[in-house]
Amino acid sequence: MGKPLSEAPITQLSAVDFMSGDMPSRLAHEFERVGPLMRWPVLGGPQMGSEIIFLGGPEANKLVFHTQREAFSHDLGWTPIIGDILGKGLLNQDNGEWLRSRKMWNPAFTTAYMERYLPLIQEVVAQHTSTWGARGVVDIYQEAREITFHVAATALAGIEQPAEVDRLQKLFFALIPRFGPFMASQADYDAYEREALAARDELDAMLLRLIAERRATPAEQARDVLGMIVHARDEQGQGLTDTEVLGHLNVLLIAGHETTTTLAAWTLYLLTALPEQRQRVEDELAGLLAGGHAPLSVEAARQLHALDLFIRETGRLHAPVQNVPRGVVAEVEFAGYTLPAGTPARLALAACHRMPQYFAEPERFDPDRFSAPREEDRKTPYALVTFGGGPRLCIGVNFANIEVKAIAVDVLRRYQLAPVSAEPPMEFGFITTVIPGGMPMRVTPR
Ligand code: HEM
Repeated sequence: MGKPLSEAPITQLSAVDFMSGDMPSRLAHEFERVGPLMRWPVLGGPQMGSEIIFLGGPEANKLVFHTQREAFSHDLGWTPIIGDILGKGLLNQDNGEWLRSRKMWNPAFTTAYMERYLPLIQEVVAQHTSTWGARGVVDIYQEAREITFHVAATALAGIEQPAEVDRLQKLFFALIPRFGPFMASQADYDAYEREALAARDELDAMLLRLIAERRATPAEQARDVLGMIVHARDEQGQGLTDTEVLGHLNVLLIAGHETTTTLAAWTLYLLTALPEQRQRVEDELAGLLAGGHAPLSVEAARQLHALDLFIRETGRLHAPVQNVPRGVVAEVEFAGYTLPAGTPARLALAACHRMPQYFAEPERFDPDRFSAPREEDRKTPYALVTFGGGPRLCIGVNFANIEVKAIAVDVLRRYQLAPVSAEPPMEFGFITTVIPGGMPMRVTPR
């Protein structure tokens, strides 16, 4: 029997630390100081006065992602954050309900299916980046957001017309709760809910029309993820209802595009800021892609080893998901303490990436840390958790990596970028990472 949580250390991190832009490092130092479990008193919003438990480090990751995963509910963690209005999807389901869904969705995310999505991804990317030269200065964070949303709308739901993608994006953003950790008076929340409910009616109508079209088209002719999922069957031969498909689509759109936006934007920024690293990536590209201009195939993308390491290191230092939320549903012990059912918890993924015990000189951008013989990500299982871990590892991990590669390859071929400001971009995040000032860059065609 562990000690009661009331005896666990309290973190001294303040609201200022949380908004500071280097929260993962500060949190990593806290874990070093007090151990892998600490209490954090909520600093504002409706839950002010309550406490959240922060867990950090590979052992904590292993506990939550693997050994005791059934004690940590995704539903209790994620549903309040992604909003009740979006519905239920893989990210916020638990147990049997989740397993049934995951088995039905897995086939749409196999590597084989990437062959289908990659040409489509490249088309969307080129459509967006081809306007950059004429514009002179672009905010690559905002551009990455437009690209990843367009890719998600096209690959997932088959929406291709720019006007329709735009409308979907506007409706969808109205659904996402826009509150930070210290958020939201009741009045803010009521205003959000009114707007979100109106947007949801229009969004539902749009997506239900697409669902009906896909149901009427034979499974063999499915061109997008939606076309596959409406025909998927569970072990009892049952398919998903329209309401279930809607919830999943909403959750996939939210889980898939903001994260990929952050990873793509940081990858482009760092390729610009680190010329020696960029040269390695460019040399590899020139060799593999016949002078640097052939279309990218899945096989060629897989062989872009230097780019792969670069993106992995970008994801370590600028993790798009900083902390994942869980609600404890069965008593569990960790680090000498007992977490009773009902405890709200956060697993600190980004802080783990800054722990010097697992990553040498963790603040340094060093893609070779992942190459043999160092292989720091393999040496300690569950140390690198950019995409989560265990059976609930991100379903979109291949999709996201190939998309970021396609964006990087397209931009490297067409342009030279230079940051408008000498100040590095400021990022912060409590769950997902945001870059409020964006990343404005000067663009010169090559
Ligand atoms: C750089 C991009 C991405 C990052 C860093 C990322 C990160 C993550 C992380 C950390 C988790 C685990 C969450 C948890 O344990 O609570 C997760 C789960 C998930 N991600 Fe991603 N993700 C990315 C892209 C995508 C894409 C492109 C899609 C879909 C097209 C996607 C769909 C999902 C879904 C559905 C889950 C829940 C899986 C489950 O519980 O079965 N993600 N992601």
